Amino acid sequence: MDGRDLLRAVKDLGSVRGRRAWGAAWRHRRADAGALPARGAERARVPGPLAGADPRPGGGVLHFARSELTVQVAVGGAVFWGWDGAAPLPSYGLAGEGPEPDGRAVLEPDTDGGWRVVSERVTVAISRNGAVEVRTPGGAVLRRELPPRWWEPVSGDGPARWVQRSEVAPDARFFGLGGRAAGPRLRDGSYRLWNTDPKGGFGPGDDPLYLTMPVQLVVADAGTHLVFHDNTWDGRVTLREGEEGAGSGQDRPGGCELRMDGGPLRTWVLVGTPARVLQGWAGLTGGAAVPPAWALGHQHARWGFGSAAEVRRVVAGYREHGLPLSALHLDIDHYDGHRVFTVDEERFPRLPELAAELRREGVRLVSIVDPAVPAEPGNAVYESGRAAGAFVRDASGREVRGVVWPGDCVYPDFTHPPVRAWWGDQYGERLAQGFAGVWHDMNEPVSFAPFGDATLPRSAQHALDGSPGDHRAGHNVYGLAMARAGYEGLVRLRPAERPFLFSRSGWAGLQRYGGTWSGDVESSWPGLRASLALVLGLGLCGIPYSGPDVGGFGGSPSPELYLRWFQLGAYLPLFRTHAAIWAGRREPWEFGPEVLEHARAVLAERERLHPYFVTLSHLARRTGAPYVRPVWWRTPADRALRDCEDAFLLGDALLVAPVLECGADRRAVRLPRGRWYDVVTGAAHEGPGQVLVEAPAGRIPVLARAGAVLPVRAPDGALELEVWAPARGRTGSGLLVRDPGDGWQVPPVERYVTRWRDGRVEVEREDGLPVAERVRVRGV
Ligand code: NOJ
Repeated sequence: MDGRDLLRAVKDLGSVRGRRAWGAAWRHRRADAGALPARGAERARVPGPLAGADPRPGGGVLHFARSELTVQVAVGGAVFWGWDGAAPLPSYGLAGEGPEPDGRAVLEPDTDGGWRVVSERVTVAISRNGAVEVRTPGGAVLRRELPPRWWEPVSGDGPARWVQRSEVAPDARFFGLGGRAAGPRLRDGSYRLWNTDPKGGFGPGDDPLYLTMPVQLVVADAGTHLVFHDNTWDGRVTLREGEEGAGSGQDRPGGCELRMDGGPLRTWVLVGTPARVLQGWAGLTGGAAVPPAWALGHQHARWGFGSAAEVRRVVAGYREHGLPLSALHLDIDHYDGHRVFTVDEERFPRLPELAAELRREGVRLVSIVDPAVPAEPGNAVYESGRAAGAFVRDASGREVRGVVWPGDCVYPDFTHPPVRAWWGDQYGERLAQGFAGVWHDMNEPVSFAPFGDATLPRSAQHALDGSPGDHRAGHNVYGLAMARAGYEGLVRLRPAERPFLFSRSGWAGLQRYGGTWSGDVESSWPGLRASLALVLGLGLCGIPYSGPDVGGFGGSPSPELYLRWFQLGAYLPLFRTHAAIWAGRREPWEFGPEVLEHARAVLAERERLHPYFVTLSHLARRTGAPYVRPVWWRTPADRALRDCEDAFLLGDALLVAPVLECGADRRAVRLPRGRWYDVVTGAAHEGPGQVLVEAPAGRIPVLARAGAVLPVRAPDGALELEVWAPARGRTGSGLLVRDPGDGWQVPPVERYVTRWRDGRVEVEREDGLPVAERVRVRGV
């Protein structure tokens, strides 16, 4: 406990909630001490020498003296290997049953007494002592996992800890591991795999955060690969970037060490271009839920809307200032005493009427949903949950109690299918209140604690979908399983509409049910930078829809910081202003007339780009490509781009270079190859290289790729194609997916091609149909 935590813990004793939290923390500690005895003597184990191999579909089984390794290449090229009999299933990460083995992959002897599995896109070589190498068909080594090592309790009772060390190319860069404030490029250091509420806010130095996952994207000259260690337990990843010409002129490979407290040792690797890898990842873990189109507009939230009157005032403010607003989010203060699935009827009377009234103005209501249920006899959710046996129990069968906003609480075990069904049914109450979407919070899950881990005791029991275990295995997938419960409930209750759901915590595969957001990012310039890092990193882990609390969560941003955050947020999938109950306001008109004017322009641009965002949301589902991509997305071998962390691509067409520094009115932008137009001045810049662009207060630098065809909404509401002239003699293209409405219809992807003809830029539909939209050519 550091000094700040100690002070907070002592202060907690002064409030009822604080004293309860002390009580819960002691109880949790005692429960663990009783149920999880300290580890006794341990025995170390390595696989030992390789004794033989048997072919199996897609690969084979390799027999080592003290372990067994299954290697399997799946159709589509994903590689799986598992030690000690670990198989791909069961898995919280995979969608469905996982991919079929690729019957064409063959197991054959390798040099030096090892074996290899050769497939079309990748070769996996297994050495005599159990090192596993992933090679491109050309023979370049992308990843080398050294033989693992386990530590097993001598008593035979309890999980085996293990470590897996790996090497990657000296030039490789690491990304991912879920939402990391320190990213997007993950520098040398140690990153924990344990979903954690950083208590009150976080900046770039805080780790871990709410949504961790053992997924890394590794980018090197020789190729890109994604590695997924499919294990939900607590662990630690230590990364060390390599060095070329290190020491005596020799290269030093990059290193990754993964230490896990238990759980299976099984690994998936996908190789290819970034786009291909992410497509494969979506194939493995499931396509991303497509948010309804309204969720791609501007949304406003606040913890601390005191009443329906305040909500009306805020919405009226947007209307009167001529600012578009798509959704307004109600936080815990609209609950009756912070109790989930209730409404404070005094401060929010007749909520369905308010919802309908706002809806007529085009504003949807979104509700926060916390997992913890107050343990109060008479509380309807508590009673029905008890009757259903829904709440997490300890090793001796008693309900586990924690403390959250409403006081003493119990926690649904979302890893049990009947509990998910029961919980999903509760969303009927939210729909009846008029809510159009849900915002899952506090689902790491949190139990306030002045000391120790602010979550459930590790000995708490979970059903884990048929493989019962305790919180050590269940913790990291708690938010994921809650998202599944909410998503499936909404689909059942309102089958004609796609759910809108985003969740603070999650794990690999969360995108199947919805998106996420930054959580309590601090209101500071480093917080602004961290919020971009999070969105980029999450996108590379397969979660395309996310965004920060614009303005930061807990403070009062200066007008300049607020505006820069607003400008960045407008180019991120979830564009939402939000703040803590103790923090300053976040309405654009609260920062003076100048900021208001600039914010108006930002909102107008977001509206204009709406068809492009809709297109990106559908493409994310179908291709796995996040809306927000690192600038090296298409050219990962461009090392200067690989190290660029302060700009991003929005789809294929736009390069966004937000201002992340106080006082800046211009900034350097590193361009990928090709021609890029400044969308404000129309100036053309040739990449690769670096240019200096103007960024006065009212402007966020955005560049359009030459040849891009961008679907936009014209001022009259019509869909228009904005075409950025290709360089002379070259062609360009762009995709359009039209909003099919809030249902499940899968609209076609239309491809438009542009070229110079007779001194003019022309656009055609690739399918030969006439172009029905107005076309506006820019950059000539
Ligand atoms: C924590 C969440 O991160 C924040 O967004 C929310 O406002 C508070 N909980 C209160 O519900």
